[in-house]
Amino acid sequence: MKIVVTGGAGFIGSNFVYYELKNSDDEIICYDKLTYAGNLETLKDAENNPKYKFIRGSISNRERVYRLFEEEKPDVIVNFAAESHVDRSIEDPELFLRTNIIGTSVLLDACKKYGIQRFHQVSTDEVYGDLPLDRPDLFFTEKTNLHTSSPYSASKASADLIVQAYQRTYKIPATISRCSNNYGPYHFPEKLIPLMIINALNGKKLPVYGTGENVRDWLYVEDHCSAIDLIIRKGKVGEVYNVGGHNEKTNLEVVKTILKILGKGEDLIEFVTDRKGHDQRYAIDPTKIETELGWTPKTKFADGIKKTVDWYLQNKDWWEKIISGEYQDYYAKMYGNR
Ligand code: NAD
Ligand code: DAU
Repeated sequence: MKIVVTGGAGFIGSNFVYYELKNSDDEIICYDKLTYAGNLETLKDAENNPKYKFIRGSISNRERVYRLFEEEKPDVIVNFAAESHVDRSIEDPELFLRTNIIGTSVLLDACKKYGIQRFHQVSTDEVYGDLPLDRPDLFFTEKTNLHTSSPYSASKASADLIVQAYQRTYKIPATISRCSNNYGPYHFPEKLIPLMIINALNGKKLPVYGTGENVRDWLYVEDHCSAIDLIIRKGKVGEVYNVGGHNEKTNLEVVKTILKILGKGEDLIEFVTDRKGHDQRYAIDPTKIETELGWTPKTKFADGIKKTVDWYLQNKDWWEKIISGEYQDYYAKMYGNR
């Protein structure tokens, strides 16, 4: 098969490229616009692999996407390409609507025009909104209503609805996965876990939003990749699959764990103004993908977080380049007067 991985130069997409190159015989094409979050350095170990190719382009550029389909004739599209950071969506919602909604619809139009064996949309648990902190018995299932909070999650939910509309109306063979928070190698430093590791290593304060009691359900990125791989090969067209490994942690627990692994003091923690509209708790019920497709996550949080901290210690070159560029302006804008 020829699999086009859109957004393959970002965090999860790049991990998926490596996962497929290692575990399948398929040809992998990474199609990526290379926004601030896309990084060819991340893919340098794939460059010489004859099964791999990189093509630069935007999913929102119809003419470029159609050319991609004409030239490459993909069998499968896995759509990771997105603006992915909630805080940035609060600053600039429109970019999120253009990339996440229009971009997805352009890809679907191309599938309709040229044909496709499978279109897979990489969605998120954030489309379900949040759960209250005092109801640990509640989980997101595939039947939970969409109920979004941020411009980011609204754009991802809109994309899901468009995928489902194209599947029903034009019979595009589509599937959707909704995963919880990922962590692991190549995670862009703006997100909680890499930001805290890097700040701690640099002796900077660790900015925890609000009280730090918000809960996220963490999944090691390779386990997300194995779930998507199963869905594109064995998942049923028209279905949604939730992906998560029952690893719920408060943000404060995560930050304290990182500090402990690094042997740094908790005095580095600084409570800062909360995120607007901050979702309280995410928690995935993965029963469907476990029972129907036999998926199980391999990495426990305690092991995954150690591996992740170790990766950032071993790969300073990767993140030092990122944080020395425009990231400085981003950091000053988001955290300067917080
Ligand atoms: P990321 O921000 O690290 O990477 C996004 C990638 O998409 C980058 O390489 C960027 O250059 C590319 N991109 C952006 N706009 C594009 C466009 N118009 N055309 C082509 N490429 C474009 O994001 P991530 O964390 O790897 O997330 C990937 C996907 O997984 C997203 O769709 C996100 O919604 C979803 N997701 C993420 C998580 C998570 O915890 N990070 C969890 C569940 C789902
Ligand atoms: O649930 C899946 C989603 O997880 C994905 O769809 C998103 O693309 C991904 O970015 C992530 O969204 P979150 O908002 O949960 O991730 P983030 O790393 O931005 O924040 C995690 C938690 O940590 C959240 O409660 C906010 C908090 N936080 C974050 C940052 C960046 C802080 O307390 N301080 C920070 O500096």
